[in-house]
Amino acid sequence: MHKTKRTRRLRKTENIRRLVRETRLSVDDFVYPIFVQDGENIEHDITSMPGIKRFSIDRLAQELGEIVRLNIPAVLLFGVPGTKDETGTKSWHDDGIVQKAVRYIKQRHPSLYVITDVCFCEYTSHGHCGVIEGIGNNKEGDVDNDATLLNIQKQALSHVQAGADMVAPSGMMDGSVAAVRAALDEHKYTDIPIMAYSIKYASAFYGPFRDAAEAAPTFGDRRTYQMDPANRREGLLRASYDEWENADILMVKPTLAYLDVVAALKSETNKPVACYNVSGEYAMIKAAAANGWLDEEQAMLESLLSMKRAGADIIITYFAKQAAAVLQRKI
Ligand code: PBG
Repeated sequence: MHKTKRTRRLRKTENIRRLVRETRLSVDDFVYPIFVQDGENIEHDITSMPGIKRFSIDRLAQELGEIVRLNIPAVLLFGVPGTKDETGTKSWHDDGIVQKAVRYIKQRHPSLYVITDVCFCEYTSHGHCGVIEGIGNNKEGDVDNDATLLNIQKQALSHVQAGADMVAPSGMMDGSVAAVRAALDEHKYTDIPIMAYSIKYASAFYGPFRDAAEAAPTFGDRRTYQMDPANRREGLLRASYDEWENADILMVKPTLAYLDVVAALKSETNKPVACYNVSGEYAMIKAAAANGWLDEEQAMLESLLSMKRAGADIIITYFAKQAAAVLQRKI
């Protein structure tokens, strides 16, 4: 048998490559994260994430216009409040930063799908994702799972009351999906879906995000609630709990170092799978490209494509605007 070019025949020209291409990226895949900050006239560059900014609401209009013009279906909102306290009470106020931003966005662009991140690390003085056990006497304790669940319910509900289309509890507390579902159902928001941060690892790749959201812990780390990067089956177990708790979408985060987990989750569930292409993954490509060490556009598309190939139905990415623009140009 002739081995020469036996698989290469179908790679000869771009048109035949188009015909046999197995995976395609589309703007339909993307969710774009946005950081909103209390205050006025703020458009703050995040140094470690070139091209990404933190906006006060009065400066958000142009950014939203671009997102809508590029036909990106959804945004994921993160809030940076003016003041913090031990339990993060600002996170569930009706005049909180995310609540105000949701109302502003839905008023200007009713069809832009608004997902809110539900967490406390941006709102607590200690930077952890919930209530600290033994607060008052032991301020360096662990995060109290069940006390935090009550606050997650309040925060999620207030986001939805402000008009959020979907909520995404990201603090890795056990039982958050069931708690949020119960709170929403009780208030008749039975049609609001939950995207679960099901498999979220304690990762070094969140570094730039913690600058962007001012959410770095002041003591300790998040390894008692975020997952050990060594574990895949534990992640699938968590995702199965989230399915039983009626999560609508299951997410893996970060992505590039965890594509095996994305693929495994996809083969185990019939729910949509999302992946979060996190800040550090974005920063690596931007930094290498700024040094002329790799082609930014190709590296961006190749890594986004790998997420799709691994099985992601939804890709949350800081590249959403840039990738949508490139994909449009190619059509
Ligand atoms: C925590 C949260 C984190 C991110 C989103 N929500 C990470 C963390 O600090 O633990 C990270 C997102 C990114 O790195 O892009 N509520």
